[in-house]
Amino acid sequence: VGGVPQVVTLSELANHNKQTDAWIAIRGVVFNVTRYMDFHPGGVDELMRGVGKDATKLFDNVHSWVNYQSILQKCIVGRLSLQKAVDE
Ligand code: HEM
Repeated sequence: VGGVPQVVTLSELANHNKQTDAWIAIRGVVFNVTRYMDFHPGGVDELMRGVGKDATKLFDNVHSWVNYQSILQKCIVGRLSLQKAVDE
């Protein structure tokens, strides 16, 4: 907690692809959703589809209106290093 925000590569992101160690990137920001997992209204299995990757498209396809910035503000890990992956 605290300190300089991390810059997270896609391969580092992919290391955190488990229910007990779950990172997810949305629009260039990486979140640790491990503790949010059990509170996701769409369920664990749905959220797990986006874990370990850039889930911007998955997220927007289901609920682009959801204010994830507010929900996950305490779960920020850092920035995704590949800006390219953000808008694809
Ligand atoms: C529902 C949050 C990621 C799939 C919801 C809802 C919230 C939410 C608040 C309820 C929406 C409503 O009732 O209007 C989040 C947050 C995410 C996230 C903060 C960021 C990590 C994902 C991902 C998927 C997903 C990656 C996978 C595609 C779903 C589905 C529902 C849902 C399918 C609908 C459940 C239903 O109404 O039956 N999510 N979600 N979510 N979410 Fe997510």
